[in-house]
Amino acid sequence: MSQVDLVIRGAQVVSPDQIITASVAIDGERIVAVGHDDVMPAGREELRADGLFLLPGAIDSHVHFRDPGYPHKETWKSGSAAAACGGVTTIFDMPNTNPPTGTLEALRLKHKAAESSYVDFGIHGLLGDDTIENLEALLEAGVTSFKAFVGNTFGNLPAPTDGALLEGFEKLAPLGIRTVVHAENSSILLRRQQRMESAGRIDTLAHLAARPAVAEIEAIGRVLTLAEWTGARVHIAHHSAADSLFLIREAKRRGVDVTVETCPQYLLLNTDHAARLGGIMRLNPPIREARHNQPLWDALLDGTIDMIATDHAPHTPEEKTRESIWDCDCGFPGVETQMPLMLTEVNRQRATLMDYVRWSSVNPARAWGLYGAKGVIAAGAHADIAVIDMNRQGVLSQNRLQTISRISPWHGRAVQGYPLHTLLRGRFVMRDGKLVTEAAGWGRSVKTVQTMPVARPRNTEHYTSAILSTPPGVAPNATPAPQEPL
Ligand code: NCD
Ligand code: ZN
Repeated sequence: MSQVDLVIRGAQVVSPDQIITASVAIDGERIVAVGHDDVMPAGREELRADGLFLLPGAIDSHVHFRDPGYPHKETWKSGSAAAACGGVTTIFDMPNTNPPTGTLEALRLKHKAAESSYVDFGIHGLLGDDTIENLEALLEAGVTSFKAFVGNTFGNLPAPTDGALLEGFEKLAPLGIRTVVHAENSSILLRRQQRMESAGRIDTLAHLAARPAVAEIEAIGRVLTLAEWTGARVHIAHHSAADSLFLIREAKRRGVDVTVETCPQYLLLNTDHAARLGGIMRLNPPIREARHNQPLWDALLDGTIDMIATDHAPHTPEEKTRESIWDCDCGFPGVETQMPLMLTEVNRQRATLMDYVRWSSVNPARAWGLYGAKGVIAAGAHADIAVIDMNRQGVLSQNRLQTISRISPWHGRAVQGYPLHTLLRGRFVMRDGKLVTEAAGWGRSVKTVQTMPVARPRNTEHYTSAILSTPPGVAPNATPAPQEPL
């Protein structure tokens, strides 16, 4: 190899098993060598990275870039700029846009909006009663995965009926496609909210009171039952409660292919922050009492929870600070702040950098069928790299975020550990802490590198053969043979 595009020299390269001092050679979109500095080819460009860490770019399974439908909250350009500046190289966008991503036309609009993306992306299509017939066509047209809003949330999409959820899983199980589930029981929370509202409760904690942990326990249990029955792959979004972890542990032990994410807000915030944050804190599922924080860390560390996502859910400052909690939109931005927040916890020795890479990149790459192309710093992989300074200290400020919706519960929080540069497929999308604006549009769909190996479908035969077509040898509407009178 004579000369390559870029060589990053003398860095600490992080994988889930080890941290090694190595240099990384990049040519075009891919890494071509990782190894001792002496054996590296020359680079047309060289970057010294002594004392810095190279992590595979973070993969965020859960963001809301809002376009089409709510570009005043976020656009693909602003949301993906936030990702790039947060060391995130791949995102998965949620379907509660307007129109929701459950039809080919809505998907076309989303692909159009995504043309300005700074980072690579997957698209979760909508699984609901009205979209069951569209699932195959949506997959054909580019969705990577599906999302079922079993719990009511922003966008007010009706929760799929259990019948539709089962049918969706029956269809998707043989294809190996994973479905994200917002696991809260809608009828519990809608009823509770009505009771709170009629009792005149408008305070921040009324939101939590309306969404008790049992709503999460019940929904996760139901989803896991249907997933185990069908063999469908599922992914539990924004896991918030300590009390439902036993269900995940048990399902994993039984061989259910379930992956789980939690978010920095469930690890680091709790009701003690309610007075300070008010409506900013309103989020689904809710931020709970302090007793939930440590069990979620423990679950990450023991592998019950697989990954960190952010649920980047921007709403404008005006939409987040209304007098009644019921008038404040649910969610807040997070894709840009996840990495500094988590690296700070690594610096506090709550986890290692190797753990972090497993949660932020390796496990999401595996869950969505991208591992090999993404999620790893190795020859042949996409050159998706976050260059990290673990010593850099700062204070997070909502005024410096790339998101359009500059209101964040992390405003004013001291952190140590920042991404300095972000490379996506060999190209800087953030450099020296600054967005590389010419890189808008460099992001593309990960569909072309996605391989979901065929899953182990179970009990789906009944749906595909017996329900949709009459089994051979059975007369339609057969008359039972006459019975002898008793
Ligand atoms: C999300 C949003 O605003 O789209 N809000 C939230 O509170 N998390 C939707 C969701 O993920 O539930
Ligand atoms: Zn969300």
